[in-house]
Amino acid sequence: MQQAEIRQQWEGAAPGWARWEPTIAAWMDPATKAMLAMAAVDEGARVLDLACGAGSQTLDAARRVGPQGSVVAGDISDTMLQHVRDNARVAGLANVATLAGAAEDLDIAADSFDAVICRLGLMLFVEPARALAAVRRALRPQSKVAVVVFTTPARNPFMAKPMQILLHHAGKTPPSPGQPGIFSLGPPGVLERLLADSGFVDVEQRLVEVPLHMSSAAETLTMMKEAFGAYRAVIGDCPEAVQAAAWVEVAETLRTFEAPTGFVAPTEVLVAAAVKPT
Ligand SMILES: C[S@@+](CC[C@H](N)C(=O)[O-])C[C@H]1O[C@@H](n2cnc3c(N)ncnc32)[C@H](O)[C@@H]1O
Repeated sequence: MQQAEIRQQWEGAAPGWARWEPTIAAWMDPATKAMLAMAAVDEGARVLDLACGAGSQTLDAARRVGPQGSVVAGDISDTMLQHVRDNARVAGLANVATLAGAAEDLDIAADSFDAVICRLGLMLFVEPARALAAVRRALRPQSKVAVVVFTTPARNPFMAKPMQILLHHAGKTPPSPGQPGIFSLGPPGVLERLLADSGFVDVEQRLVEVPLHMSSAAETLTMMKEAFGAYRAVIGDCPEAVQAAAWVEVAETLRTFEAPTGFVAPTEVLVAAAVKPT
């Protein structure tokens, strides 16, 4: 897939992602806290947030670093970045700036950041190694990058089963190893190897359970249809009837996660941090 396609995919999902951001932020909160701590996003730090989306973790970082620190939020989608600017203004945070473009193409002064974070983005990049090379250059020596990715289909069934259904209806195959995809960096060892091959050392990894709680399967379906760019992309170029049939089957699958208290689905993410050597 080309960068232009990825940009278009996420431009289409950006309004939905922004609408669902409070839900996504609450869902990912334990992983976000781990990522910020593992990257040493501390008072006064200069932070780069890659694939920032509508910026909830950008704003968390901006609060942690305080007025003496700063956060640059980068994304391939301009609409996402407009949401970041609006959200920062509403939150009264003057220490947030935005940077448009693909992470792979970043041209940033060497040694200019104290920490780099990336929540739920790296696994979707066409060339994650090229993005990590740019990150390594941008970081000052002995500082850290920390990322959050989904682990495996077995540990994330409410995401894996709908993806299988959409791929089946669209007549497409799942991404092969090495291709971008929601689970591409989740299998044991893959992310660790990518970080090491990109010149980082002292890789630290934590598995974090972040079960998703929603009011109903119907609400989860709406979020998936509106906000999940990778899902929308699988089915978006199919005839209307194919799309409708696929989403009906996804709805049935999501109903299997309904309990008397609402929708509850296990989700597991991997938080990994690594150091740029001197
Ligand atoms: C699943 S969303 C995560 C957004 C945000 N980090 C969060 O956790 O709320 C993925 C984001 O990655 C961005 N993205 C995808 N490919 C990218 C690339 N190559 N470079 C920069 N951003 C990219 C999308 O525009 C989207 O905002």
